[in-house]
Amino acid sequence: MTIMEEVVRSADTNVEGYHEFSLGEFNFRRDEFFVYISWPTGNHIMSVDAFLRALQRDVAWDFFYGIVNFDGVFGTVNHYGTVDIFAGRYNDSYRKAELDYSENVETPRIRETFKAMLDDWTNSTFDPFASPHETGSAFGIKSGGNNAAVTRRRVAANRMVGVPGDEQIRTDDSGFPVNRMFLDVDQTEPVVEAEPGFENDVVAFNLFAYLSRSDVTWNPSVVSACKDSLFCPTTEEYILPIIHGNDRVEWFLQLSDEITWEVEDRDTGAVRSRVVMKAGDICAMPADIRHQGYSPKRSMLLVWENNSAALPELIASGKTPTYPVEF
Ligand code: PHB
Ligand code: FE
Repeated sequence: MTIMEEVVRSADTNVEGYHEFSLGEFNFRRDEFFVYISWPTGNHIMSVDAFLRALQRDVAWDFFYGIVNFDGVFGTVNHYGTVDIFAGRYNDSYRKAELDYSENVETPRIRETFKAMLDDWTNSTFDPFASPHETGSAFGIKSGGNNAAVTRRRVAANRMVGVPGDEQIRTDDSGFPVNRMFLDVDQTEPVVEAEPGFENDVVAFNLFAYLSRSDVTWNPSVVSACKDSLFCPTTEEYILPIIHGNDRVEWFLQLSDEITWEVEDRDTGAVRSRVVMKAGDICAMPADIRHQGYSPKRSMLLVWENNSAALPELIASGKTPTYPVEF
């Protein structure tokens, strides 16, 4: 059986025109405004716009680093080969009432189910990656689809943006005009005069210009890679559609404007701190928290990731601390 054949989708659509999906004992359905999730010990409701924004990122990032909380109840944990799909597992009240539930599934199966659900439930008017100012509505009865938006290619440089044969800079001609909020960003590219024979190695690009032309929000993309050190800048507006539970430390460098981060205990959701980052500020998110960002104006953020596959185990076993520096 192929993976597509394993996607469990209702044969018929409901009165609003949408299919229902199942994954293990989880069931998912949507109507005009809401998504309804049920599992053996309970059920949950989310606004469909918030659900699709979270689902889009879980799919595009292939379940990301660690935990993707869609909200305080539902989400996924990446085990890099398999994924836990859970309800209430990182919610103190559900845990204490012993109502939390989780299933471990092979990554291809959840990937294909989530892709099929995202495709079926996204109408032609809605772009889950766009700022609320730059997309139409997610609500209403089934009306077309937005395949181009939900299958956008993810930028992932092998070495660096601008290197021959790698990801290229964005221009008007390549379909990336300067965003309305970044019209004042200098578009001059650096002049590089490489010695003959070094054209593949001596390269530079204007990162601010590159980010000013991003058409998506809350979507870190790899612009440079040095072994496991990945620079993943992103442009932000409104609210990060997931609450990210870390399985490693990540660094944030605020390149422009301002983001407020709500930081909670990763396992219980208890409030830990609020971090207000202004342009030029840098901080490290510890490996035992979860965080969600609020960006009142479109801003530029550099997320610095350590991509080492050894980290989750080193941190979970206590061999590596949950924070990066001792002051
Ligand atoms: C994060 O979880 O660290 C994160 C995710 C998406 C962003 C920024 C930060 O756009
Ligand atoms: Fe994060």
